[in-house]
Order: sequence, then structure tokens, then C-alpha cells
Amino acid sequence: MKTVLLGGGGQLATDLEQVLSDWPVTALPHSELDVCNFDDVKRALESKKPDVVINTAAFHHVDNCEDQWERAFNVNAFACQNLAAVCADIDATLVHISTDYVFSGTQSKPYSELDLPDPLSVYGASKVAGEFFIKTYCPKHIIVRSSGLYGLAGASGKGGNFVETMIRLAKSGNPLHVVDDQIMAPTNTNDLALKIAEVIAAGGRGIFHITNQGICSWYEYAGQIFDFLGLTPDFGPTTTEAYGAKAARPAYSVLANTRLESLGIEPLAEWPDALRRYLTDKGHM
Ligand SMILES: NC(=O)c1ccc[n+]([C@@H]2O[C@H](COP(=O)([O-])OP(=O)(O)OC[C@H]3O[C@@H](n4cnc5c(N)ncnc54)[C@H](OP(=O)(O)O)[C@@H]3O)[C@@H](O)[C@H]2O)c1
Repeated sequence: MKTVLLGGGGQLATDLEQVLSDWPVTALPHSELDVCNFDDVKRALESKKPDVVINTAAFHHVDNCEDQWERAFNVNAFACQNLAAVCADIDATLVHISTDYVFSGTQSKPYSELDLPDPLSVYGASKVAGEFFIKTYCPKHIIVRSSGLYGLAGASGKGGNFVETMIRLAKSGNPLHVVDDQIMAPTNTNDLALKIAEVIAAGGRGIFHITNQGICSWYEYAGQIFDFLGLTPDFGPTTTEAYGAKAARPAYSVLANTRLESLGIEPLAEWPDALRRYLTDKGHM
């Protein structure tokens, strides 16, 4: 399947490019195609005529989105409106990556694909708007929501990923406090990329929640990283309130991977197994 990958060179896009290497894939990094430039997007897609377009491009620094709401909506929403209309015109399937932050986290059981988004932050609201445009303008769409992404390339939009940040902070020798009251499923981008490929190949349509299995708080996640690596930092839990980040985040954003099952696709690995594999592949252990 002829595929164009937007946001090329990013954390998830790097794994997608590798996983899809048997397909003819053109990865377009931000430097080559700005998804906010509607004419360039239309020209690029009309000339390449892909069967599949995968959009990983996003402005997803959650706290910065609060101040830079115009940029957040331009990249995460209005660019998707244009992209969806172009994909509909050229009859391509549009695969779009979204987030657990479309939910408020007030629920105490995993969110299914049928639950209604109710975001707390500008980032979450801009991603909900992007999903809406894609559903409205492009009938052949797959929206993949995931959470807590980490991958070998590191997120360019966040200057790395949580795992690398924790290792660096632990080695700095300074005391470290990590929030213990936000629960989610950390997800390895290699595992996610493999499942996205399976969903596309199976002809999936609509919204899919795709995360590694199991749940934890960010504090428990950090603790598991330190355990695997034998690190013993001066480390303790804190609360969302005491941490005081600019953007509100869901207290519980676990995503039930219900629709993967309906396509007969195996669930992803448990998050500690996926984390151990990442640490090995990255050369940390
Ligand atoms: N990271 C997470 O924890 C997480 C969790 C859930 C969902 N997601 C979603 O997963 C997707 C991929 O995230 P990731 O972790 O792979 O992040 P990433 O490494 O930051 O990848 C995003 C890519 O988008 C590019 N980009 C930003 N603005 C663009 C624009 N206007 N035009 C074209 N490209 C642009 C970035 O390039 P530059 O850096 O050069 O601008 C970057 O290469 C995003 O949709 C994000 O919302 C992420």
C-alpha cells in the first residue's frame, strides 16, 4: 500500500517507517511539509497519490498548548480538516494519531472507543477538534488514540521522552518527585506502530484505542524504570496539585482496547515487558 507519513522523523513516525518498510512509504518531516500549509499538503498528496496517509504531526507539548492555543488548533485541528478533505478527494485512507487527553479522567473504568470526549486542556480540546474534522470530512479514516508514548527516537515535540528524562534526573543526584495520582498505560511506539499496521491491513475503520496492557501512575512507571536499571535516586511521590503543571491532566486516562479485539488482533504486551524491551534496545541494560 502506497503510504505517506506526515510528521516524519518524530518518535512514533520513526517506528512506523521501520515497521512499514515493506510498503512503499514516503516519510515527510516537518522541514519538508508543514501540515498547516494547506496548498502544499494538497499538492504533495495529489502528486504522490497514496492509498494511505498517516498523520503523526502534532503540537503536543501539553503545557505550552495552554498559552499557544492558536498554534495548537492550527496544527492539531485545522490542518486535519484540510488533510481530511484532500484524502477524501484522492480516495486515500487517513490514519490519524490522537490521545488519551481527549478524556477528563473522571471515570474510574477504562475509556472505550464509545465514550464521549470531554477534554480538560487546550491540547485535549484541539485533538478532539482534529478528530471531529477527520470523521466529518474523510469517510475512510482510522483514528488511533494512545497514551504515554516513548520510543527509541524520542519525541521531538517534547525534547525526548519520560523514560530518558527520569534516567537523566536520577543520575543528576537531585531529589525527584513524580505524580502518583494520574493513572494511564505507558506505550512503546514500536508496539503501537506494529498494531497500527495490523489495523490498516485488516481494513479497520473508525476509532481505535491502542496502548500497552496494564496501568500505572507516573510515579510507579518511574519506579519500574529505576528498578530495571538498578538506580536508587532520592525519589518519592507527589500530587498533581503540588506539582502544579500549567495544564490540567486527566487523573485516570486508561483506554480499553476494545475494538482491536473485534478485528481479532492480539492485545499489546504488558507495559513493564515493553519498557524492559525499550531499555534493552536503547542500550540502557
Ligand atoms: N508523546 C506522547 O506521550 C503522546 C501520547 C498520546 C498521543 N500522542 C500523539 O502521538 C502523535 C505522535 O507523537 P510523538 O510522540 O511521535 O511526537 P513527536 O516525536 O513530537 O512527533 C510529532 C512530529 O510532528 C512534527 N510536526 C509538528 N508540527 C508540525 C507541522 N506543522 N507540520 C508537520 N509536522 C509537524 C514534529 O516535527 P518538529 O518537532 O520538527 O516540529 C514531529 O516530528 C501525536 O499526534 C501526539 O499528539 C503522543
